[in-house]
Amino acid sequence: MGGTPLKQIKIGIFGLGTVGGGVVEQLRENRELLKARTGTDLVILKAVVANPSKPRPFDLGPIEVSGDPNFILDDPEIDVVIELMGGVTLAKEILLRSFVSGKTVITANKALLAECAEEVFEAAYEHHALLGFEAAVAGAIPVIRVIKEGLAGDRITEVSGIINGTANYILTSMSKKGEDFQKALGKAQEKGYAEADPTFDVEGVDTAHKLLVLMCIAFGGIFDFKELYTEGITKIEPVDIEIAAGFGYVIKLLGKAKEVGGKVEGRVHPTLVPEDQMLASVDGAFNAVKLSGNFSGPIVSYGRGAGARPTASAVVADLVSLVRQRESETSPVPPLSLMSEKLKHRKLMPMAEVLSEYYLRFSVEDKVGVLAELTRVLGSHNISIASMIQRSRSEEGGPVFVVFFTHEALERDVVEALKTLDQLPFIAQPTRMIRVDPS
Ligand SMILES: NC(=O)c1ccc[n+]([C@@H]2O[C@H](COP(=O)([O-])OP(=O)(O)OC[C@H]3O[C@@H](n4cnc5c(N)ncnc54)[C@H](OP(=O)(O)O)[C@@H]3O)[C@@H](O)[C@H]2O)c1
Repeated sequence: MGGTPLKQIKIGIFGLGTVGGGVVEQLRENRELLKARTGTDLVILKAVVANPSKPRPFDLGPIEVSGDPNFILDDPEIDVVIELMGGVTLAKEILLRSFVSGKTVITANKALLAECAEEVFEAAYEHHALLGFEAAVAGAIPVIRVIKEGLAGDRITEVSGIINGTANYILTSMSKKGEDFQKALGKAQEKGYAEADPTFDVEGVDTAHKLLVLMCIAFGGIFDFKELYTEGITKIEPVDIEIAAGFGYVIKLLGKAKEVGGKVEGRVHPTLVPEDQMLASVDGAFNAVKLSGNFSGPIVSYGRGAGARPTASAVVADLVSLVRQRESETSPVPPLSLMSEKLKHRKLMPMAEVLSEYYLRFSVEDKVGVLAELTRVLGSHNISIASMIQRSRSEEGGPVFVVFFTHEALERDVVEALKTLDQLPFIAQPTRMIRVDPS
């Protein structure tokens, strides 16, 4: 590079919070390495934040800070926009305007990409935008790059994973320490793993956002976020974890999608996973994603799914990759790995048609004929039992737990059977149903 000054790539960043701060620090700490890898000097010149006068826990250097989005968006000198603000409305406007003005865009905003998939991806294709969003799914794990490039020649048959560290931390605490949900959540909040408002994490919404983004790339098209079945972990009780363990299972919040015979099934819910599977051993705030290609077979990636440095790592990897494409003017890797600008809109298989095995925990009065009635109603809905146990409760004469593990059954049949059963006089509490994934 013999003395000639390197071309400067001018970056405008929206958000200097957890992830934004990580990106500022990584670009500074790895500056020489990044020069060598891109042949350019990557410099953040402008930042837009909610509160420009707020002190930051890192050195801003040459970064000028404003509260006005136009400070970056109207500046023709800015080559790359990095959106690390969160929220949907303003973030979408920032992306769409940046595509129109030919700026390269990087975002970690899974809520925006999932809830506005059609608008954002169609606009990106229309304007031939360079768009990176590796940081939106599973933090430091380069899962999007694996699907788009590592498995570019494979038909993806399955994507599944533990992609929310907060929910996984809570389930791990419940499982290892016997804590109930509320106690485990309180500890996650104390340690900074859960937000003050943990709704998106514990209700499965964050997992669903990330799964939908992966599905669009893996199965080639746009899916509607509202069609994705989403159930969180708030109803999981220590007794379910204990009984599942007795049968060799661990309970995990899984996001899973697969394509069978041209139909795509996608769902987020607590799942009993066999303890000898790799996903079962992913503990605490870690993430793991399993991908299956029709030639590759299964691949599992594991790592840190959130936090300043792991997430910054994914943002900066996108920056390197997109700046290389921008500067070399080579054909870019398209946002959803498809060349066509006409993105297909794909329907999800309705949850009622999904086939699964089930864990059913009934809370019943301890009297003659109850077991026979439970199995009769299940049988009349085409649900056959693989194994069962009965567990007494501590109070003398109180209800007992009867747990069935079923063979594969249709979700519609299970829901209908439970509707009938939960009306019966000997049922003491609504039945707990958790899906089992033996694969
Ligand atoms: N945290 C993670 O581990 C993680 C992991 C993966 C993806 N993400 C995603 O990354 C994004 C950022 O997350 P974060 O954890 O870094 O959030 P954060 O710590 O809350 O930071 C948000 C930043 O955006 C700024 N901001 C908020 N509203 C704004 C507005 N209306 N106009 C201008 N600036 C605004 C804030 O400004 P002030 O600082 O002045 O308040 C702050 O600097 C989100 O989309 C999140 O889902 C986060």
